[in-house]
Amino acid sequence: MQKKEYHFSYEVYETAAELTAADAELLDKARKVTENAYAPYSHFRVGAAARLNNGQIVTGTNQENASFPVGICAERVLLSTAASLYPGHAIESMAVSYFNEDGASDRPISPCGICRQSLQEFAQRTNQSIRLILSGQEGNVFIFPQADMLLPFAFSDDEL
Ligand code: THU
Repeated sequence: MQKKEYHFSYEVYETAAELTAADAELLDKARKVTENAYAPYSHFRVGAAARLNNGQIVTGTNQENASFPVGICAERVLLSTAASLYPGHAIESMAVSYFNEDGASDRPISPCGICRQSLQEFAQRTNQSIRLILSGQEGNVFIFPQADMLLPFAFSDDEL
């Protein structure tokens, strides 16, 4: 028997004021685009903004439905938008923020399991890992150098 370990490191910033101008711009767009979320059921508005390798910035927001499982997370709305508008282009960085209508929005949230799987395949198909910038409307910012670090041992088409 062997024991193996999985490690990763990430960056923690006190506030967005410590970010580079490019990262601060992306996070600002993710924070603001939460206004476009359709979240009448959860009251939890999520916004995502990504910079592509062609310099374009695309955004996404969560879009819910009265039939709850039909709702889509902001991250996957963004991935579909990016692939539809700019096919073949990789995402360099993606910022994710939220506005909680019923509570505080002062700490980072991280993508759900389904979104992690979608992020993993998007990175694989474009041959570029996706940097993740996570923060609420204020407070700490976490930066993960590669989104797929959040999904170790991911299932992929390598297995098919
Ligand atoms: N949600 C996202 O859009 N992204 C996340 O990373 C976490 C959750 C959405 C799904 C649902 O519309 C609402 O937030 C509450 O779960």
